[in-house]
Amino acid sequence: MPQDSDWTRRKLDYEPPRIDTSKAHSARVADYLLGGKDNYLSDREAAERLMKVAPGAADTVRQNRWFLHRVTRYLAEQGIRQFLEIGSGIPTSPNVHEIAQQVDPAARVVYLDSDPIVAAHSNARLTRSPEGQVAYILADMRDADAVLSAPELTGTLDLGLPTALLILSTLHHLAEEEGHDLVRQYVAALAPGSFVALSVATRTDDPVDIVEGAQATLGSQGIKVLNRSLAETVALFDGLELLEPGVVPVHHWRPANSDDAELRIGLYGGVARKR
Ligand SMILES: C[S@@+](CC[C@H](N)C(=O)[O-])C[C@H]1O[C@@H](n2cnc3c(N)ncnc32)[C@H](O)[C@@H]1O
Repeated sequence: MPQDSDWTRRKLDYEPPRIDTSKAHSARVADYLLGGKDNYLSDREAAERLMKVAPGAADTVRQNRWFLHRVTRYLAEQGIRQFLEIGSGIPTSPNVHEIAQQVDPAARVVYLDSDPIVAAHSNARLTRSPEGQVAYILADMRDADAVLSAPELTGTLDLGLPTALLILSTLHHLAEEEGHDLVRQYVAALAPGSFVALSVATRTDDPVDIVEGAQATLGSQGIKVLNRSLAETVALFDGLELLEPGVVPVHHWRPANSDDAELRIGLYGGVARKR
């Protein structure tokens, strides 16, 4: 069940940023682009400015959620029963536990995000199946040691068993080396047979002016975005066995149909297995 976030915060020695609704935040901008209601004027203005320079922004955020849905269902169907989603964002149904618990009601899911607004919505909305477990951790993913030893995580997931690590549309808010090293740290804690799904902002599929315009628009709101090349994205999966079709724009990862194939989507995604 959702846990007491004050206790989590104290335990992880994490002081979340004060909620400042006068400045846009990535989780709430994404929520607006998805048609959600958990956003403020600053987020809506930033999203509208973003869509002016990058008209594909709303498609990108939506396709990324659908990538998350396909990946979660696929991994659950492969027998994965434990999921750790980092940078989970404001809950948008279906969330990971809803999909995983459709496949097996006993599936266990831990969500983590550093945004206190995400924590408030997650604690209010994450309902689980009676057999399954869902926990939420309010923490900065950069403190991997504290995250991996948090009671909310160790009490919900047994990392000695195969687990899916999902970090979607989040690593690009960190510095390049930092993102790469953090993936290594989290992967090292996973059992063989675990899976890792990542998506990150790309810098090659859109014309340079769109990518730079989007970066500048979000950057002016204090939302840092690091765009990776295909090779840099593939490097995030170093040491892991990439599943077909490899790293591709997220809407090209095992799509249910080909209707959206021509869309310009600004996120690369992939799924890999730890041997
Ligand atoms: C663009 S949203 C993506 C949300 C969701 N993963 C999705 O794909 O729809 C990025 C999320 O990463 C979170 N985030 C950014 N930096 C983080 C950090 N250092 N630790 C934990 N979460 C972080 C933000 O609060 C936000 O909710």
